[in-house]
Amino acid sequence: MNEVAIIGVGMTKWGELWEKSLRDISVEAALKCLDDAGVDKVDSITVGTMSGGLFNAQEHIGSLVADYLGQRFVPATRVESACASGGLAVKTAYMEVASGLSQYALAVGVEKMTDVDGGDATFALATASDYDYEAFHGITFPGLYALMAVAHMKKYGTSLEQLAQVSVKNHHNGSLNPHAQFPFTVTLNQVMTSTMVADPMRLLHCSPITDGAAAVLLVPLAVAKKMNKSYAVITGIGHASDTIALCQRKDFAKLEVVEVAAQRALKMAGKTIGDIDFAEVHDCFSIAEIMVMEALGVVESGQGGPATINGLTALDGDFPINPSGGLKSKGHPVGATGVAQVVEAVIQLRGQAGPRQIKNARTALTQNMGGSGASSIIHILEAR
Ligand code: COA
Repeated sequence: MNEVAIIGVGMTKWGELWEKSLRDISVEAALKCLDDAGVDKVDSITVGTMSGGLFNAQEHIGSLVADYLGQRFVPATRVESACASGGLAVKTAYMEVASGLSQYALAVGVEKMTDVDGGDATFALATASDYDYEAFHGITFPGLYALMAVAHMKKYGTSLEQLAQVSVKNHHNGSLNPHAQFPFTVTLNQVMTSTMVADPMRLLHCSPITDGAAAVLLVPLAVAKKMNKSYAVITGIGHASDTIALCQRKDFAKLEVVEVAAQRALKMAGKTIGDIDFAEVHDCFSIAEIMVMEALGVVESGQGGPATINGLTALDGDFPINPSGGLKSKGHPVGATGVAQVVEAVIQLRGQAGPRQIKNARTALTQNMGGSGASSIIHILEAR
């Protein structure tokens, strides 16, 4: 199996991009990535996107991107794992290169969510839950994560302040990221008094509805070395799935899918969580970041809230989480998120993150999640 490196990254500004189409933003991110890599022809394209059909009445997105990118006849595949579709695109591109099928494998993540109104966007997202047993009866993702938050608060005493601090931290980081949808800071009081969405998840606990795309170019490590480019190596991948319905799990306050995926990724990389310098994680709601850090083993179960308040996960903390601003501030165009997490990891490992640069960043972990934890994909990346 080839060792695999990332030699190019690119992303669009994220937000409400009325003036651009699904194909425009996919191509924009891909061209930025190819330009960064200094490459103009690829051997394969994998596109991660959750629901072009419901958001844009457009399926067959692999071919759409290949066509408009000027890469006619290149094999193009669309992959889907709800909000983890982007992570799956990176994993699929990794397999292309590791197996020797492709030398230059492009992974693109994209979602254009604001072409439909809020109700239709909520419906499209809810199709990633168990439709018959959850969405059909009216529960949405803010509702599902609210159930997880209540369970966590009851079991561990996690407080509303601790939950709100996740958003305060991530908005601070996002205020330093020119690609972020909401690049402004918020206070604890603003989070805790923002509009209630699904008790206890208020507006400023929720990731938004976003348009955006991101892309990364993967090559064999030997090729990266010859190209004399700045690169990061993917040394670990962990992928797992769990029950699609939250109600089938015995403990709502735990994300076992993340535990399993993390163990697999760390084992493959020959690392422990203590070897990781920072992480980009799936904070679709503030409670998710707390539960993910516990599942990764950054802290013991129940300690995610106190650790957040104490600054462990701040940019200058011992284990920075979401230096990009995370889903909360940077935005969450669902299929693009997993690719953008890898983009941020590479930028940090190259030392190019400007005011949000983490000191001495050498090893990164990205964690992307589908639904209420029915799938998760983790990558470990190292600077070489
Ligand atoms: N954070 C901060 N501000 C937000 C925001 C968010 N998550 N979502 C919307 N806003 C702002 C808008 O910019 C707008 O500001 P303005 O009045 O100054 O222009 C205002 O709040 C109202 O925006 P609107 O689009 O009407 O909000 P909404 O009530 O329709 O949607 C949510 C808000 C939280 C319900 C929606 O963003 C949502 O469903 N988020 C979760 C997405 C999700 O489930 N993703 C999958 C995760 S698994």
